[in-house]
Amino acid sequence: MVLEGLRRLEYRGYDSAGVAVLTGADGGGIASAKKAGKLSNLLGELEQHPLPNSRTGIGHTRWATHGGPTDVNAHPHLADDDRLALIHNGIIENFSELKSVLLEKGVTFRSATDTEVAAALLGDEYQAAVDVPAAQRLTVAMQRACQKLEGAFTLLAIHADLPDVVVAARRNSPLVVGLGEGENFLGSDVSGFIDYTRRAVELGQDQIVTITPDAVEITDFFGAPAEGKEYQVDWDAAAAEKDGFPSFMEKEIHEQPRAVAETLLGRTDAEGRLVLDELRIDPEQLKQVNKIIVLACGTSAYAGQVAKYAIEHWCRIPTEVELSHEFRYRDPIVDSNTLVISISQSGETMDTLMAVRYAREQGAKTLAICNTNGSTIPRESDAVLYTHAGPEIAVASTKAFLAQITAAYLLGLYLAQLRGNKFQGEIKDLLADLHKTPDKIQSVLDNEQQIRDLAVAMKDTKSVLFLGRHVGFPVAMEGALKLKELAYIHAEGFAAGELKHGPIALIEEGQPVFVVVPSPNGRDSLHAKVVSNIQEIRARGAKTIVIAEEGDEAVREFAEQVFYIPATPTLLAPLLTTVPLQIFACALASAKGYDVDQPRNLAKSVTVE
Ligand code: F6R
Repeated sequence: MVLEGLRRLEYRGYDSAGVAVLTGADGGGIASAKKAGKLSNLLGELEQHPLPNSRTGIGHTRWATHGGPTDVNAHPHLADDDRLALIHNGIIENFSELKSVLLEKGVTFRSATDTEVAAALLGDEYQAAVDVPAAQRLTVAMQRACQKLEGAFTLLAIHADLPDVVVAARRNSPLVVGLGEGENFLGSDVSGFIDYTRRAVELGQDQIVTITPDAVEITDFFGAPAEGKEYQVDWDAAAAEKDGFPSFMEKEIHEQPRAVAETLLGRTDAEGRLVLDELRIDPEQLKQVNKIIVLACGTSAYAGQVAKYAIEHWCRIPTEVELSHEFRYRDPIVDSNTLVISISQSGETMDTLMAVRYAREQGAKTLAICNTNGSTIPRESDAVLYTHAGPEIAVASTKAFLAQITAAYLLGLYLAQLRGNKFQGEIKDLLADLHKTPDKIQSVLDNEQQIRDLAVAMKDTKSVLFLGRHVGFPVAMEGALKLKELAYIHAEGFAAGELKHGPIALIEEGQPVFVVVPSPNGRDSLHAKVVSNIQEIRARGAKTIVIAEEGDEAVREFAEQVFYIPATPTLLAPLLTTVPLQIFACALASAKGYDVDQPRNLAKSVTVE
């Protein structure tokens, strides 16, 4: 069961894996195994050296922070004469002070990890808690250890003295409890135990939970009883399987029409007015907002950039987009009339969580656009707008990105409705256009072969550039990011207008350049400007690959290849123009023989700063 849970959670980190089980019903010992590399390495090891049967176990897949990805540094880490096993997500910031104290006490360490320090500290507290009844000793030791730990952590521990008990703690890292019949579970997210139960409990910050087959007890770090919030998971194990696709990424790319449709579902009343029930911020306060700051990282930040164009255009509210990890360090101007919108698929990205906390401290209203129910960022925000993309397993984000953009459009239109920036009829028309996009995305997917063939033909390419303008600019950057992270190819996204200010020097004979062309029916002269940009690079030898709207014949003569997408209003185009770029990166990486679901050096939830 533990290994199956790890298989489902492996996308979160995959540079080593390990398990520990309690042996013997009345306090035998602990048996464990761990291996560097993917989970399959651990499975191979266990086939050769199986662990004894057990009713209680813990397991971990790692994304290395302290100490490289080796067998020794893999979790679990053992302490208390190997009678205690511990696994950890996050970073213990004061591990070096704690380690000095423990070394002085004669503790020896086998690994270079901060986790082993946490394990040793817990072992030390366990030994010191002789006054505590045996059944509560591990829980109390965990409370006392957590009082001394600084940083971000989810910890899970078992002890050979307590055959049916797992004790866990969380601060700033995810942990959920699964409630079963005569069995209970813990996981970084519900996919770890979704095969067994859909009843889950979300834990609060700085909480300890002790589970046995029949009980779940929650306290704070000082032993005071605490409560979690129970919820029902609305997707099942099948949603987290590949459905016949060769990879989760392929599956998720093809789920995009549904991800967008479901994110749009149920957002209007009988009169066609937008109602965002989950929002929880007083509409009067939203009317007072005079500035918006969007905070996110990576792909989610590109969704934020698309949101900026839409929100400023529809609502006339100045909107900035900032990478979460930069935000806190520049003394941003934030007050109670600032709305901070965070965008996060996982809801656990530490950089974004810290930025949201900072914004709240400064008095801003915070709203999370998030795909993961019960995750930390929405829980710590004043309001949440959930995307309904379903579980995203592939490390590279695809369907969550389109769902984020969709949610941002809904939010923009809602604010415009609330503040009276747009007539109701205009909002209705835009919503109608949005509702047409799932079918249009499907038609892009139906014509994917052309882009796949191109990807295979270009598999030995060393560098690819992406150009876009207006909302096509973040799309170009997202296209470049997908190629970097999946195919390990140098790729850059530029604003097409910026080209002549420097990057055009990169263009030489045969340089592949993707150009995202805006609709010829859009406003201003954007289309003509981008066509000129294509001519400029083409004249210098670039191999131009163009994403353009159906019927746009003007681009044909300057393009090596044209991928046509269905006509759609300019602001909504990213929902379509992104899709060929995702397919291109995925197909090219697959042609190179790379694992598109788990690219090297990455993890799905980046829960460290
Ligand atoms: C890229 C990708 C990352 C994430 C980023 C933020 O494909 O997935 O760039 O977008 O790490 O993650 P979330 O959205 O979970 O906050």
